[in-house]
Amino acid sequence: MKNQIKSSLKEVPETMLWTLHNRASEAMRKDAIIKDDKCVEIYQSIDYDYEKSFGKAEPSHAVRSLMFDEEIKAFLNEFPEGTIVNLGEGLETQRYRIKEDKAFWISVDLPEAIEIREQFIEPSQRHFHSPLSALDRSWFDLVPEDQPVFITAQGLFMYLHEEEVKAIIQDMLSSFKEGYLMFDAIPHWLSNKTMKGLKKTKDYITPKMPWGINRNEVNQIKKWSSNITGLEEKPYEFPRGTQRWMFKTLLAIPILKYYAPTVVKVKFKNIEE
Ligand SMILES: C[S@@+](CC[C@H](N)C(=O)[O-])C[C@H]1O[C@@H](n2cnc3c(N)ncnc32)[C@H](O)[C@@H]1O
Repeated sequence: MKNQIKSSLKEVPETMLWTLHNRASEAMRKDAIIKDDKCVEIYQSIDYDYEKSFGKAEPSHAVRSLMFDEEIKAFLNEFPEGTIVNLGEGLETQRYRIKEDKAFWISVDLPEAIEIREQFIEPSQRHFHSPLSALDRSWFDLVPEDQPVFITAQGLFMYLHEEEVKAIIQDMLSSFKEGYLMFDAIPHWLSNKTMKGLKKTKDYITPKMPWGINRNEVNQIKKWSSNITGLEEKPYEFPRGTQRWMFKTLLAIPILKYYAPTVVKVKFKNIEE
């Protein structure tokens, strides 16, 4: 076994190992829906008992990553020199899955997260790492003014409070000229469970996730900024097994369908510009 890197991540930054566990385990399957050798390499290079903390792997985070990949690819088709900002990127390896050679990528995560990211992923002129909280608006200055921007927040906003989510969305949408913001969100019932201490396994309690929103409330986000010109919401679709049919069934039931996690894409244009 090669020398492995030990993780000292705690609290929310540690959750990047949860998404890594699910994504890499999916990528290692024969019938994988995601191809990501870099993710597998990172997964195998960290000395961490993933199953002990997060349990048996499942494909949700691979499904989520693919939803984001698809939208980023469409954006870069239209704007090959556009900017991608990944908030709370952790050990996500999206830029290795998306083949392009002109875009500018900015990864914004907490200093301890960027530190472990840089053990595996080197920043470059086109792939900038910013060791800051997403809530620290100083990363805004890194975003070029002459290109549209695609901002992602995968597995981040639920760890913030609603006022923080609302304020950062408002500030981003009034600071950048035009583009998209894509994020995932969890329903209130799940947020409430984490606030009481949700045990993922007997050894791991998930960090608190204060921000929840039900699918039928997502449209209200439009009221947060007059620069929002479009909003789409799309729940997860699982590739196989019990999770697939359970989710399909849940999404077919009136009212209950609003209580599923989901992914939101907001289109914006700064009319003040
Ligand atoms: C569930 S992980 C998601 C990682 C990655 N986006 C993925 O999908 O694999 C949550 C990430 O949010 C980061 N994070 C937590 N609070 C943050 C903040 N205030 N600003 C930026 N990143 C933050 C953590 O360090 C971690 O990388």
